[in-house]
Amino acid sequence: MCGIVGVTGNKRSVNILLNGLKSLEYRGYDSAGIYVNDQEGHDYLVKRTGRIKNLEQAINEQGDVHGTAGIGHTRWATHGEPSEANAHPQFSNDDRFYLVHNGVIENYQQLKSEYLADVDFKSQTDTEVIVQLVDRFVVNNHMDTRSAMLKVLRLISSDSSYAFVLMDRQQPDTLFVAKNKSPLLIGLGDGYNMAGSDAMSMIKETNRFMELEDHELVIVKPDHISITSFDGEEKKRQPFTVDMDPSAADKGAYPFYMLKEIDEQPAVMRRLVSEYLPADGKPQVEDALLESMASSDHLYIIGAGTSYHAGLVAQRAFEKLTGIHTSVHISSEFAYEHPLLSEKPFFIFLSQSGETADSREVLVNVKKHQWPSLTITNVDKSTLSRESSFSMLIYAGPEIAVASTKAYTAQIAVQAILAKALGMKMGQQAAADFALKEQLAIIANGMQAITDSKDKMAEIAAHYLSKPRNAFYIGRGMDWSVALEAALKLKEISYVQAEGFASGELKHGTIALIENRTPVIGLITQDRTAGLTRSNLEETASRGAATLTIVSRHLANEDDNIVLPDVDPLLTPLLSVVPTQLLAYYTSLGKGLDVDRPRNLAKSVTVQ
Ligand code: AGP
Repeated sequence: MCGIVGVTGNKRSVNILLNGLKSLEYRGYDSAGIYVNDQEGHDYLVKRTGRIKNLEQAINEQGDVHGTAGIGHTRWATHGEPSEANAHPQFSNDDRFYLVHNGVIENYQQLKSEYLADVDFKSQTDTEVIVQLVDRFVVNNHMDTRSAMLKVLRLISSDSSYAFVLMDRQQPDTLFVAKNKSPLLIGLGDGYNMAGSDAMSMIKETNRFMELEDHELVIVKPDHISITSFDGEEKKRQPFTVDMDPSAADKGAYPFYMLKEIDEQPAVMRRLVSEYLPADGKPQVEDALLESMASSDHLYIIGAGTSYHAGLVAQRAFEKLTGIHTSVHISSEFAYEHPLLSEKPFFIFLSQSGETADSREVLVNVKKHQWPSLTITNVDKSTLSRESSFSMLIYAGPEIAVASTKAYTAQIAVQAILAKALGMKMGQQAAADFALKEQLAIIANGMQAITDSKDKMAEIAAHYLSKPRNAFYIGRGMDWSVALEAALKLKEISYVQAEGFASGELKHGTIALIENRTPVIGLITQDRTAGLTRSNLEETASRGAATLTIVSRHLANEDDNIVLPDVDPLLTPLLSVVPTQLLAYYTSLGKGLDVDRPRNLAKSVTVQ
């Protein structure tokens, strides 16, 4: 899940590539590189480990790096540790071909031993095999670059994922572009053209784009683009425009994107009300979508990581407001092992990025069975939104920090809106009575109050979470679902071994991990189980745990640490999660960690 970008026909190529890579850094940031060519016989390859700023420094130190065409890459290592040799662009031993790649070539070892046994490889990457193979077919088999590229593409196994941009020193104004499973768009400029992993990587240069389908080879020149299938059939493609304010992805005065995105949640709630609940609070949702869902007998919610957690919360709203059986599944599991499916299933895909490979693997199978599907995403025209039957946007604005926050609450709110709309469509009184618009207004104000109490969260984080090697969030029912998300946030950005645990399950084993000062944070927002969760907290406190509570006001007492405004029990996660996001943020900050770019992670996971 790397980020790739290419440009041809522009003297500002080096800056365009660096800007593109900076906005793609959320996809991987262990090493980066660019190759540029000025079409006057000068070309430059610069690679560095670490963040884009290291690459930019190296380019500035070199002083003369320039070009009118080039390719760039930011890496999340899959084959070979982060190093300059394994960084992209990878290149052929005769320095003729340069390649950037996002994805995994599953049969690279077989191609290497079958065609390139005599080649000295400079890296451990699967990508280098591809560029050496193109060179082999051009130099030894006297093929032209396009034919050699096509031959290589046909040799790559269909279970491989790739987005490629290749440059040939002998055709310095041409980008050879191809994709399978991995995301890739063409950017249409005025006198120049681009290719990039997403629109944001090109939005500073153009807002006009072209989608690419799998198994297409695209020749990109400054003033011309030709798209053909692997069988050589010419393809025409309608451009589309993306209305995105390039500065929306700027951090502004915030030290980290994560804090900015946590603070944006009240505004996102208000935006969703204006988009989906305009006038009388009657949800504005596509009727064909509601028709298709109403005729199903089971809703299957599919997602990964935080998106899966958002599904766990919404499952209750769907069942309570529509009466349709609803289950939630981890996409990487469901893709290869799923339960007995109902007669008329309907699939809901949750994905902030709209590009998660595990979820797409499920969607490919769902489409094979012609089952209806909906993608709820933050990225319009993303792969999952384009390939599913229906799509709904969560309008959270660009989410740059790897740790997802505002997308989680927006996904929950959009599912609640959809559940209300579907329930009303099916004549369910509970749905008609569900005062969602009013509730979301209370929630937006409640979120504001919590984000305004940052100092308190910073103190609690310093007191409870700065030293321990492990921590627990506990709760029951809806609170357990939030505990899973809260623990994920703490794990992924502060590296504390945290677990979200069903509080009633603790005494069946895991309580053995409780020792002196182990932080145990109880989430208490549900009437029926509040007392039980408190007893479970007590059980841990009597074994030395440092306990903390996040409680709804009507359930609170004077000793509780964080008290939340009262809202409908189906919607309490929209408030109870916010303190846990801030606790994770301040714990990471307190450790001097890179809050937005945690180790070993990437924002959009485009490999399985
Ligand atoms: C969450 O903070 C993580 N970045 C990760 O778990 C993420 O939620 C998961 O990879 C799913 O991504 P998606 O929503 O873009 O599909």
